[in-house]
Amino acid sequence: MFKTVVCVSGGGTNLQAILDAIDSGRITNTEIMAVISNNAKAYALERARNHNIPALCMSPKRYPDREAFNAAFTEKMKELNPDLIVLAGFLVAIPPAMVDAFEGRIINIHPALIPSFCGVGYYGLHVHEKALEYGVKVTGATVHFVDKGMDTGRIISQKAVYVQEGDTPEVLQRRVMEEAEWVLLPRAIDDIANGRIQLPEKKA
Ligand code: GAR
Repeated sequence: MFKTVVCVSGGGTNLQAILDAIDSGRITNTEIMAVISNNAKAYALERARNHNIPALCMSPKRYPDREAFNAAFTEKMKELNPDLIVLAGFLVAIPPAMVDAFEGRIINIHPALIPSFCGVGYYGLHVHEKALEYGVKVTGATVHFVDKGMDTGRIISQKAVYVQEGDTPEVLQRRVMEEAEWVLLPRAIDDIANGRIQLPEKKA
């Protein structure tokens, strides 16, 4: 079984899509060994507990500074030692030491077609606000490997979604989730867990 940790910050609909895909057999050979949130109130943690998955909170606010948080977060991940780390709406920058320790084994879902509407400040609903402000007619989602930059790692998959007349950021966000995110992320995990997307040798 491919041991996977999912990191979340909010509602956790992408986590739910992963859990549903495991339950229905669209993702195989995968065990979610833990869900980690930076936010103790994230509903995603509830979704994990409902599935009897260990749900942990690691909040930067509980540490004296970012360096201390980064060290503790990286240490925790090394302890868990997953085969794959999935960022499913995780809004905290991954510590460089964690990127090194799990090189090529961290993936992220971004709610736009990278390289559009990505990078610092582009997260959650803001991404869709910016897309509507710009007036693009097509947006979408991207699954990519995580490197030390912000949304700069190698792209695994993308799916386009049409913007429709009268869309609000919330309506567009929901369509991008339904048509792209909840499809792409479970598929990428299944592809990785079953060797159709090859990962580098594990370091630990
Ligand atoms: C999702 O739309 C995800 O793509 C986005 O946050 C949302 C989390 O929703 N992630 C980013 O913006 C990362 N830059 P969820 O908690 O319901 O899965």
